[in-house]
Amino acid sequence: MKKEIKKIAVIFGTRPDTIKMAPIILELKKEKEFFKVITIATAQHRQMLDQVLSVFKINPDYDLNIMQPNQTLATLTKNAIEKLDEVLAKEAPDMVLVQGDTTTTFVGSLAAFYRRIPVGHVEAGLRTNDKANPFPEEINRRLTGSISDIHFAPTDTAKKALLKENISSENVFITGNTVIDALKISMQKNYEYNDGLLNQITAEKKKIVLITMHRRENWGEPMRGACLAIKKLAEKYPNMNFVFPVHLNPIVKEVVHDTLENINNVFLIAPLDYQDFVNLMSKSHLIVTDSGGVQEEGPYFGIPILVLRKVTERPEAVKYGTVKLVGLDEKTIFKTADKLLRNKSEYNKMASSVNPYGDGFAAKRSIQIIKNYFSMSKIKVKEFIPKKRK
Ligand code: UD1
Ligand code: UDP
Repeated sequence: MKKEIKKIAVIFGTRPDTIKMAPIILELKKEKEFFKVITIATAQHRQMLDQVLSVFKINPDYDLNIMQPNQTLATLTKNAIEKLDEVLAKEAPDMVLVQGDTTTTFVGSLAAFYRRIPVGHVEAGLRTNDKANPFPEEINRRLTGSISDIHFAPTDTAKKALLKENISSENVFITGNTVIDALKISMQKNYEYNDGLLNQITAEKKKIVLITMHRRENWGEPMRGACLAIKKLAEKYPNMNFVFPVHLNPIVKEVVHDTLENINNVFLIAPLDYQDFVNLMSKSHLIVTDSGGVQEEGPYFGIPILVLRKVTERPEAVKYGTVKLVGLDEKTIFKTADKLLRNKSEYNKMASSVNPYGDGFAAKRSIQIIKNYFSMSKIKVKEFIPKKRK
């Protein structure tokens, strides 16, 4: 076995890729006799990234601080690649790890490729096969996939998608999604929220409908329609609390505040830190979202989720029943949510299901796979298989 320590550069930059990379960073750091870890935050997000870094106590070795208000995809890409290249040139890591499908992910993999550094892609193989949905993520992950040397697929569906693209099965491993590792690290019994308002809201013991929205393809009228559906629901169910942590993107904030401000039982609040968010999620009755990560976390708790998208790259929970794809039509969203809030048996059908996304060991599996890649060890990794909820 080779004993030489390998330098692994981990690149992240937004809220979701950092949450899902955190368990990998924490595991890698434990393996000091095998790895030296270099953490590189593009800071494509600023405040929403800092919230995650503070929850997981990660202090990046490099913070490229590229976020600009209302940034365009092109300026983001240009700034990220220039700065990442400088760091990769200086550090010359043995491997770069990227996660998911953000601009940071794609540019991180491209910068590594230009320096001929092997790339490991965490959460590989998610596909809708529609380049406009989600935009630009479907293309970001495809491009990252074609550059990557190791593919950590969260599910069997993701693995099959990669094999269909002629990626060698030797380089694809079903690890589960690290989002579940992150959840397990962050969930607490009798949790006290950092945001005091949440202590008050949860103490009221009213049912909570949790909402998030941010997707680019939903900006403008689709997002307005979804917000109007939430408004109608809030008016119909004054005995429930509708909690909406609003993404910091000014385009999102404008529509959300314009449609949902000054309704007694609608709480428009700043993005929550991850620990507050997942603990609140565990107490929610229904989730309405266009988020990728939230679609994976909800099934862990068995909470019904209505997904505000035309297609999803996460078909597993739809198949098992916890997630329903409702699209962006105002009437359909209202009708579907209304039925669930009124009809116990409809609700129960969605609420008890399988969690298809992970078992909390995705990071451990991924690290063993990296050791095997460098011939540091030869332990065969048992792939993740979803189990029925007990
Ligand atoms: C990005 C990702 C998307 C991911 C989402 C998670 C891309 C192209 N998009 O979208 O895949 O689902 O993050 O949230 O990679 N802003 C702040 N503070 C922050 C974060 C954002 O003010 O902490 C504002 C800024 O004005 C920024 C804008 O939001 O310019 C957009 O941020 P950006 O990362 O470009 O896109 P997101 O919509 O957040
Ligand atoms: N999240 C959070 N605070 C919030 C809303 C969401 O920490 O106020 C977390 C959530 O638990 C999930 C992740 O952010 O892990 C999802 O991020 P987002 O929806 O921004 O991006 P996506 O997953 O759609 O790429």
